[in-house]
Amino acid sequence: MEFPVKTGSPVRQKTACAVIPIFEDAGLSGVGKELSRPLKRLITTLKKKKEAPIKLGSTYLIPLIRGTTIQKTLLVGCGKVAKFDGKNFKEATLSAANALKDTEVKEAINYLGYLPIKGLDAYYTARMTVELTHSSFYRFDELKSKKKNKYKLRKLGVAIKDRKLIKVARQGIKDGKGISAGIDLAKDLANRPPNICTPTHLARIAHALAKKHERLEEKTLSERDMKRLGMGALLSVSQGAVEPAKLIILQYKGAEDRVDPIVICGKGITFDTGGISLKPPPKMDEMKFDMSGAASVLGTMATLGQLQPNINVVALIPACENMPSGQATRPGDIVTSMSGQTVEIINTDAEGRLILCDTLTYAQRYKPRYLIDVATLTGACVIALGHHCTGLFSNNDGLALSLLEAGHRTYDPAWRLPVGEEHFESLKSNFADFANAGAREGGASIAATFLSKFVESRPWAHLDIAGTAWLSGKNKGATGRPVALLVDFLLNLSEGDS
Ligand code: BES
Ligand code: MN
Ligand code: ZN
Repeated sequence: MEFPVKTGSPVRQKTACAVIPIFEDAGLSGVGKELSRPLKRLITTLKKKKEAPIKLGSTYLIPLIRGTTIQKTLLVGCGKVAKFDGKNFKEATLSAANALKDTEVKEAINYLGYLPIKGLDAYYTARMTVELTHSSFYRFDELKSKKKNKYKLRKLGVAIKDRKLIKVARQGIKDGKGISAGIDLAKDLANRPPNICTPTHLARIAHALAKKHERLEEKTLSERDMKRLGMGALLSVSQGAVEPAKLIILQYKGAEDRVDPIVICGKGITFDTGGISLKPPPKMDEMKFDMSGAASVLGTMATLGQLQPNINVVALIPACENMPSGQATRPGDIVTSMSGQTVEIINTDAEGRLILCDTLTYAQRYKPRYLIDVATLTGACVIALGHHCTGLFSNNDGLALSLLEAGHRTYDPAWRLPVGEEHFESLKSNFADFANAGAREGGASIAATFLSKFVESRPWAHLDIAGTAWLSGKNKGATGRPVALLVDFLLNLSEGDS
């Protein structure tokens, strides 16, 4: 979809459909005052008759009115004027996009961000208009034999009143498009079924990204390579599967070689049966989403390839299946990780930490400025936080704060939870250095503490996206989180450098 910037009052603007905010408060406010007379009259009448969509998120489509340059008008309820902040803007923008999907309109102009919004600058207003609209138009139908008709909207103008803001709005739109492309990739990969989206498939996608973007380079390690490196923890997870495991390395080089990179690791379990500690059947299909960390890291790299910020980033993606079989790892088995630490596998369903621990050890060779991992790691995190916030665990307050702020700015929120020695108690083993699973209570922190044993002294953060990476129920599907958070964090680092 195209998103041109549009300046100038809606009285003179020609468009097939203007998206206009309507507020609960009496009278016409904001952009409403700049509409043509016939439109103003109609809206005032609707308001009087209490038929105007004043409630946040409601919409009302006015067909052609004579005497206006605007053909259709989509009124969007925005609640109270004084309360119109970033959050309400998000709701309104999503409702507008959903309403536009149901029309035949090919081109429209969005006036929801025409005037300044409390707590949201022009850059983010434009960027979020793009990201939210784009995400609302996302559909995954590559495996439907009969495709639904394509949505008609091709062009959505982003209206701003202040001409001085054209440049920042353009920048916001450009970044928004790049981020949306990354989110789309993350969603597509996670939605793809596990018989198609295998570790090999993920490696091919990484390879294709490197082909497409000049600054991306890909190298994938095979099981043989991993064996040579001593990745006993990672390989123990893959051992029961027929599909070969991969460790995908995708490097983004946007700064000089001497600049230390940020390393992001994404859990890529393309299907998690639990292994010998088999999961119960209900919702097991959703364990195809257990590679959402990998998907979001690949999505982030695609965005970097497109936006070309001046930073260095290395993506490390351990990808494999967790399957039961005669060759599968047993509860009680002890494995030696690449770090030399031994792990007693109490529960084969706690596999994410096993593939990540060797990846974190491997990451040390890049001397990461920041080391970040993203994983659908624990059901306990879902119990703790629900589906709104990603769990954030970190050994570094500065890094944690930057990630929390990035999440807040992008409507991709995270919430910090504890990680530390007190949780290590739970992982005591009588036979190995420690165990891979412990108590149910505080399970998300215990998992994070397990990972912390492999990060050495690097500033590190772990994002547990078990509750945020996908939706269940009738809207079942990947969310693309936390691509927006990660990219926002990385773009801010790049600004700091230049
Ligand atoms: N992939 C799961 C975590 C998960 C479960 C994410 C449900 C989203 C929804 C992970 O591999 C797992 O099975 N974790 C176990 C750990 C336990 C055995 C210590 C869990 O959370 O039950
Ligand atoms: Mn598991
Ligand atoms: Zn898992």
